[in-house]
Amino acid sequence: MPKKKFHLLFLGFFVLFLGNSCKKTAPAIDYQATKVIVADSAAVVSPHPLATRVGLEVLKKGGNAVDAAVAVQFALAVVYPRAGNIGGGGFMVIRTEDGQTAALDYREKAPMAAHRDMYLDSLGNVIDGLSTEGHLAAGVPGSVAGLIEAHRKFGRIQDIKELIQPAIDLAEKGFHISETEAARLNRFQDAFRKYNEEPNPFLKDSFQMGALLIQKKLAATLKEIRDKGKAGFYEGPVAEAIVEEIRSGNGVMTLEDLRQYEALWRDPVIGRYDNFRIISMPPSSSGGIALIQMLKMVEPYPLHNYGFHSASAVHLMVEAERRAYADRAEHLGDSDFYDVPRDSLLSDTYLHARMANFSPRHATQSDSIFAGSFKLLKESFETTHTSVVDSEGNAVSVTTTLNSNYGCKVWVDGAGFFLNNEMDDFSAKPGVPNQFGLVGAEANAIQPEKRMLSSMTPTIIEKDGELFMVLGAPGGSTIITAVFQVFINVAEFGMSLEEAVNAGRFHHQWLPDAILIESNAFPDSTIQALEAMGHHFNHVGRMAVIKAIIRLPDGRLQGVGDPRNPDDDAGGY
Ligand code: DON
Repeated sequence: MPKKKFHLLFLGFFVLFLGNSCKKTAPAIDYQATKVIVADSAAVVSPHPLATRVGLEVLKKGGNAVDAAVAVQFALAVVYPRAGNIGGGGFMVIRTEDGQTAALDYREKAPMAAHRDMYLDSLGNVIDGLSTEGHLAAGVPGSVAGLIEAHRKFGRIQDIKELIQPAIDLAEKGFHISETEAARLNRFQDAFRKYNEEPNPFLKDSFQMGALLIQKKLAATLKEIRDKGKAGFYEGPVAEAIVEEIRSGNGVMTLEDLRQYEALWRDPVIGRYDNFRIISMPPSSSGGIALIQMLKMVEPYPLHNYGFHSASAVHLMVEAERRAYADRAEHLGDSDFYDVPRDSLLSDTYLHARMANFSPRHATQSDSIFAGSFKLLKESFETTHTSVVDSEGNAVSVTTTLNSNYGCKVWVDGAGFFLNNEMDDFSAKPGVPNQFGLVGAEANAIQPEKRMLSSMTPTIIEKDGELFMVLGAPGGSTIITAVFQVFINVAEFGMSLEEAVNAGRFHHQWLPDAILIESNAFPDSTIQALEAMGHHFNHVGRMAVIKAIIRLPDGRLQGVGDPRNPDDDAGGY
C-alpha cells in the first residue's frame, strides 16, 4: 500500500475510534415525559415525570387532589432540585367539587432582622448580587408549613406520612437525573462551589443525564418532617442546621424566625370574564389581581374578531398588560403590611378609566403612565407548577419556588437542601429593578416578617359554574401574562389547550417599555404593524412554562405539559 494511502486509512480509523470513545454514552433514564394526555377520571401535570407518578399513585389509593398535590410537592423537592423545594415557598389555590374555594399563602417571609436598606451600600445604591446569591438572600421558608396545613385542612389520606414517604424513598435510593437537570447542575457548579463544600451531592466535575442522585441528608430531613410534622422542620435539628448554615455566611435568619412561621389562608381573588369565573391567588402574590385586571381591561373589545396574534389583538393585550404591571409596581405588596386597594384595583369603573387613554392605533408610552428605570430579564425560568384534578372533580393549582435556579445556591449542609433567594422579590430600593426587571415602591419595601411580592399565578377557572381549567406556571414576571394568554387563546381564539399552551407568547411589564417576545412567536407582518404603532421588541428563547388541565366537553380531562420544559409531564387515568 502506498504510504500516503496508509496514513489516510489510519487517520480514518483513528477519527472513528476517537469519535466513539468520546461519545457520551448516556445511561438510560427510567421515566419519560408525556406532554399531553386525555383521562377519564383524574389528571396530574407537574414539571417531572417521577413527581407526576407519585401524584397518580396517591390518587389511585384514594387520596384526593390536595393529598396528591402535597405528595407531588415533596417529591419535587427531591427530583427537581433546581426549583422543587422545602427551602422555598409557594401558593396553593383549591376548588372542591362542590365549588368551595380556598387560597393558601406559604410564601417566604423576611427575617425579623431584615430592614428596608439591607441591600444598599453607604451611598444608598443597591449592592449587586446581595439579594440574589448567598445566605443573606434567603427568606424564611414556607413550603413545609404550607404543605402540612393544606393536608390538615383538605387532605383525605389520614396520615401525611404516606404523602412524604415516596419523597424519602426517592432521596434515599436515588433517581436518575434528566438531561435538563444535568445541564443546569453543570451550569451552576461555580456558584455552588462559592457557597458550599464537599462532600455535597451537587458538587461534581460533570453531571450526565442518567446519573444516580442520592440525597441522604435530605432523606433524613424528610424523615424528621414525616415523624414530627411542622416541628420537624421549624424546630429541632433541621432548624438548627438551617441557622448554623445561615450563620456561616452573612445571613440573619434565626431560630425564632423559623419557629414563628405560619402558612396563612387568604380569600382567593375572584373575577368574571364572560361566562367564566377566575379563581386565583391574592397578595402576597400579584398574580390574581393583575390577571383579573388584564382580563377585565380587554373584555369589552372583540378580541375574537381581531384574530390570534393579529396586530390589533396583541396591541390591546399589551396595553392591558402594561397598565396592570404599572399598578403592580405601585399598589401591590403583602396585604398584612400594606393596605392593598384590592377592591378598587378590580372595580369595573377603575379598569374602564385605566383604558381611557388606550388608542387602537398607537402604543402608550410607559413613562406617560409612571416613571422608572429598567433592565432586562437575565434569569432562566425555574419555579414549579402542578395542576391536579381528582376523580370527584376537586382541583388544585399550586406554584412553588426557590426563585432562581437552586435559589441562593446555598445548600444547608446539615439538612441537605437549597435555600431560596426570594428576598430579591422585594423592592430593594424604589424604582430599582430586581432580577426580573420588576420595579416596586413602598408597597413592596422590605420590612421584618413581611412576605415579598410574587408573580406566581396558580389559577382555577369555572365555565358556567363548573370546573373548566386548572393552570399556572413558573417564569418570574412572565407568569401572569402567560396564564392570561393561554386562557384567552382558549376562550377567545377557540384553541385546544395544547395549541394554547404551545402558541408563542409575548409579555409587557410596563418597564422596560418593550414587548418581550419568544422567537418566531409572530409573523413578520404583525411585528411590522406593531412597530409602526410605536412598540419595541426584545426577543427571548422562551418564557413561562404552563402546566394545565382542562375539562373537555365530554367530561374527560386533558392534561398538558409545556414543550418549553422537556421534563414537564402529564399523567392521568
Ligand atoms: O414569586 C415570584 O414571582 C418569583 N420568585 C418566581 C420565580 C420564578 O418563576 C423563577 N423563574 N423564572
